[in-house]
Amino acid sequence: MTAPLTILGIESSCDDTAAAVVCGVPGASMILSNVIFSQTEAHADFGGIVPEIAARAHAEKIDHAIEDALAVAKLNISQIDAIAVTAGPGLIGGVLSGVMCAKGLSASTGLPLIGVNHLAGHALTPQLTDGTPFPYVMLLVSGGHCQFLLVHDHDNYTRLGGTIDDAPGEAFDKTARILGLKQPGGPSVEHAAKNGNPRAFTLPRPLLGRDDCNMSFSGLKTAVLRTRDEVITKYGGIPSAICADLCASFQAAVTDVLVGKSRKAIMAAHSIYPNINTLAVAGGVAANSTIRNALRELCAETESFFVAPPLELCTDNAAMIAYAGLLRMTDGITDDLTLSARPRWPLDQTSPALLGSGKKGAKA
Ligand code: KG4
Ligand code: ZN
Repeated sequence: MTAPLTILGIESSCDDTAAAVVCGVPGASMILSNVIFSQTEAHADFGGIVPEIAARAHAEKIDHAIEDALAVAKLNISQIDAIAVTAGPGLIGGVLSGVMCAKGLSASTGLPLIGVNHLAGHALTPQLTDGTPFPYVMLLVSGGHCQFLLVHDHDNYTRLGGTIDDAPGEAFDKTARILGLKQPGGPSVEHAAKNGNPRAFTLPRPLLGRDDCNMSFSGLKTAVLRTRDEVITKYGGIPSAICADLCASFQAAVTDVLVGKSRKAIMAAHSIYPNINTLAVAGGVAANSTIRNALRELCAETESFFVAPPLELCTDNAAMIAYAGLLRMTDGITDDLTLSARPRWPLDQTSPALLGSGKKGAKA
């Protein structure tokens, strides 16, 4: 039995400045605090994340996030066992802010430093929230990521497939922009789709017919743009009922692709682990209830467990980084002050790189 560890986690790879404290042992840990300063408003006028604004905002907020995380956990830094920090992949300015801050803290306190892969943080969340044992299949689906991972253990992943172009969250955001709905697009499109007919428009399901687990969403985005133009030509604008139909049809196309490819990912995982029985999701798009419900049904049909962490732990946060750090520290893996920030850092170093990048920068 390993001794419980208390880990401070720091995350700043995209547009959230976050710090958290997690305490426990592998498979049985508690989140003592989980502080997030979102930058959504700072980027709102620009239609996307501006890396320079993000880096400056991280540098301004990161100390406060750490102080708040310790205060909420009712701990001081001397009661922490190690500092885990996202060392990539992500926007380099943000990752650097976190890594420099963590190095400074480590140098001044003597606490061990642990560099964590942001994607590993997402991939390990089902174990933090639900104690899910390895191995399991993870669908990571957000504005910056879209991939199926076979999670063998905390330091060993196989990428079963992923997007070859845009991430689905990016397609949701673009669809909202095309239809004049507010950002972030996922919640707006989901809300509008509630009153729409998912069969009103026939939109493409790219690569769905192919046997592999790769996906593509950029053609779908273009199809929404073309359909919108046809609607404007016909009606002289976008009537709200038609907007709802288009949102519902778009959401149905994304859902079909994610469910169809999840089925293939589960089958691919079965050929490696015949008894594997869990599909987990993470990332902002996993908040979508149509997508969640469809994945839940797929799991019922394939006799698999479906693990969907609470939304605040599906999106970027530092608790997942602290937990990934806890697993590394338990295995005796730490870094030193030469730890570097990595804009690209695929979890599976052996699979060939996919072409996709996602709006928030190349992730894997
Ligand atoms: O994980 P996340 O907070 O950040 C990264 O991309 O790393 O995900 C944000 C993405 C955005 O593109 C947003 O539109 C999408 O997740 N999203 C949703 C929903 N809520 C957020 N997409 C579909 N339906 C939702 N309800
Ligand atoms: Zn993320």
